[in-house]
Amino acid sequence: MGEKASGVLIRPASAEDTDSIYEIGTLCFPDAWRRKTVAHDMEGDHSEYFVADLNGEVVGYGCFWFVVDEGQLVNIGVRPECRKRGYAEAILKRGLEECKARNMKTIFLEVRVSNSSALALYKKYNFRSLGVRKGVYDLPREDGYIMSREI
Ligand SMILES: CC(C)(COP(=O)(O)OP(=O)(O)OC[C@H]1O[C@@H](n2cnc3c(N)ncnc32)[C@H](O)[C@@H]1OP(=O)(O)O)[C@@H](O)C(=O)NCCC(=O)NCCS
Repeated sequence: MGEKASGVLIRPASAEDTDSIYEIGTLCFPDAWRRKTVAHDMEGDHSEYFVADLNGEVVGYGCFWFVVDEGQLVNIGVRPECRKRGYAEAILKRGLEECKARNMKTIFLEVRVSNSSALALYKKYNFRSLGVRKGVYDLPREDGYIMSREI
């Protein structure tokens, strides 16, 4: 089951998507998770991965965690050559729907202060900054905003 957006299908990930999710992570994040970390996290009850599936090719993914009544957007990434087509937005919307379905009250995320693309996306979806965590990122060392919104 999934949602069609911008010609792409947003669907829950399955184990067969692990390689694609891992690879997109390496293209998006200097401190990307190892493949076995991705595989382990995908198996957890507390997590849900959604992928953007374009004619059978995974072009983006989002990783969401759900703990008690708090959701977390852990990672969202889109293949560099597939950006600016609304895929991240469609993944984020699907994750917010999942938060609602799981009775989350709030969703949190953390983002590098220099990540203007992601910040614009989060602001478009009414995330507000709660503060800055100093030096929380590596490669390069950087501060992060903690952001949240109600579900
Ligand atoms: C951030 C990222 C996920 C956005 O993916 P995307 O599919 O290109 O984003 P979308 O096309 O869905 O854009 C949705 C909104 O995000 C914002 N946005 C996305 N790219 C942007 C850019 N280059 N500049 C400014 N705003 C941007 C805009 O608000 C946009 O809405 P608009 O088109 O109405 O202006 C993508 O750039 C990426 O994978 N970056 C590397 C990984 C990363 O930084 N992830 C976030 C931290 S966890």
